[in-house]
Amino acid sequence: MTTHFDDTRPAIDTDRVDFFTDPSIVANPYDYFEALRDRCPVVREPHHGVIAVTGHEQATEVYRDHNTYSSCIAPIGPFPGLPFEPDGDDIGALIEQFRHQIPLNEHLVTFDPPRHTAHRALLRKLMTPRRLKENEEFMWRLADRQIDEFFSQGSFDLMAEYAQPFAVLVVADLLGVPEEDRASFRAVLGAQRPGSIQEDEALTDNPLQFLEEKFTGYIEQRRSTPRDDVLTELATATFPDGSTPEVIDVVHIACFLFAAGQDTTARLLSSALHVIAERPDIQRQLRENRDLIPNFIEETLRMESPVKSDFRLARTSTTLGGVDVPAGSTVMVLSGAVNRDPERFENPAEFRLDRPNAREHLAFGRGIHSCPGGPLARVEARVSIERLLDRMSRIAIDESVHGPADARTYEYEPTYILRGLRKLHLEYDPS
Ligand code: HEM
Repeated sequence: MTTHFDDTRPAIDTDRVDFFTDPSIVANPYDYFEALRDRCPVVREPHHGVIAVTGHEQATEVYRDHNTYSSCIAPIGPFPGLPFEPDGDDIGALIEQFRHQIPLNEHLVTFDPPRHTAHRALLRKLMTPRRLKENEEFMWRLADRQIDEFFSQGSFDLMAEYAQPFAVLVVADLLGVPEEDRASFRAVLGAQRPGSIQEDEALTDNPLQFLEEKFTGYIEQRRSTPRDDVLTELATATFPDGSTPEVIDVVHIACFLFAAGQDTTARLLSSALHVIAERPDIQRQLRENRDLIPNFIEETLRMESPVKSDFRLARTSTTLGGVDVPAGSTVMVLSGAVNRDPERFENPAEFRLDRPNAREHLAFGRGIHSCPGGPLARVEARVSIERLLDRMSRIAIDESVHGPADARTYEYEPTYILRGLRKLHLEYDPS
C-alpha cells in the first residue's frame, strides 16, 4: 500500500496547485498537504483566498472556538461565494442577515448557537442508547443479507455491492423507515456526490429532495395518527424548552442524517477493506485477534479521513497559528493533513495497528458540531469487518480490475470534500 511520506518526493508548488479543482491531487492529496505544512500549519492559498489549516493543534482551536468561527459554510467552503461583502472586524450581524441565502442553511451542520444547541438536542433524543443497540442488532443481520446477495460470485465491488447500500439502510433503520420503502431509499440515494470537481454540479441544488418529500409525509402522518414506532418518536420529539419543532425542522434533521452518514461511512469501509486486502500481515493479525479491530478502525480514520475538508467563516478578526485571519475569511480544516501532523502522530504516514493515540484523530471533528454519528460509524465498520472476515477466509484485491501489485490503479472520488475510493473490487475464498 502506498504511503505518501517520502523525502525524495518531488516538491509541490502549493501556489500553483488549486486544491479545489486540480485533478492531480485527487489520488494522492498527502504530498500537497505536506507541502502546505512545510510552509506553516496555517496558510492562505492563493486561488480562492482560503486559509488552510494542516496543524492538529490549530484545527482543534478552530473547532472548539465556535464564537470566533461560524459554521454557516461548514459543508461547502468558498463556493458559490458569500451573499454579502465582508466589512470590518465583526461580520456577525451580516452572517445573520444573509444566512438564509447560504446553501444548505437549513441543515444542522451550518447552524450556530443558540439555534444549533436546540436542534442538536432534538437529534440526541433520536440517538438513544436503546435505539443504537437495536440498530446494531439490525446491522448484524443486514451485513449477512448484503453478503448473501453477491456471495456466490467470488468477487465484488465493495462500494456498490456492500458499503453504499449498507450505510443507507443502517440510517433508514435508525430512523424507522418502513420496510416497504427501504428499497426505494437504497435505489435513490446511491447517486449523491457532494463537492464534485469534475462536473459543475450545483451545490445550490437540493440533493435531498427525495428524502424531504418522504419524511414530510412520515412526520405529518405520525403527528396526526401516532403509532408505537421510531418515526412517531421522531415526530413528537420536543426542543429542550418544551416547544414542538416545525415539521420541516424534523424533516431536515432526518435528511441530514442520510447526507452525513452515507458517503462518509461507505468511504471508511472502503479504506478499511483496502488495507485488509493490500496488507495480508494486517489481515492475519485481525483474524487472529478480533480485539484489534477497534484500533484498526481508528487508525484507518486517521490515515484516510473520509471528510477531506471542513470549513468555517471567521466571524471576527483573529489570529491562528500566528497568521492574521480577518473577519470574513474562509478557514479550511484539512482533516487528512491534520491527522498526519507529525507534531501529534509519530511517523504519521505509517499504518500502525497498535498506535496508542490513533483515536486522537479529528476525522469526526471536535467541539459542538463533532459528529454525533461517530459511534454509529464505528459500529458499522466493526460489524462489517467482523462479518466479512468470518465469511471469507482470504480477502484480496481483484487484480483483473485494479492490476497487479506493482501497478495498481485506483480511482478516487473527484471531490474536494470527501476522500475515498470510487470502487474497490475484491476477491475472496468463501469460508
Ligand atoms: C466515518 C463516517 C463519518 C465521518 C468521517 C463523519 C465526519 C463528520 C464530521 C467531520 C463532522 C463535523 C462537521 C463540522 O464540524 O463542520 C460531522 C458532523 C455530523 N455528522 Fe458525521 N461523519 C460520519 C458518519 C456519520 C453518521 C453515520 C451519521 C449519522 C447517521 C453522521 C451524522 C452527522 C451529523 C448530523 C453531523 C452534524 C452535527 C452538528 O452539526 O452538530 N455522521 N461528521
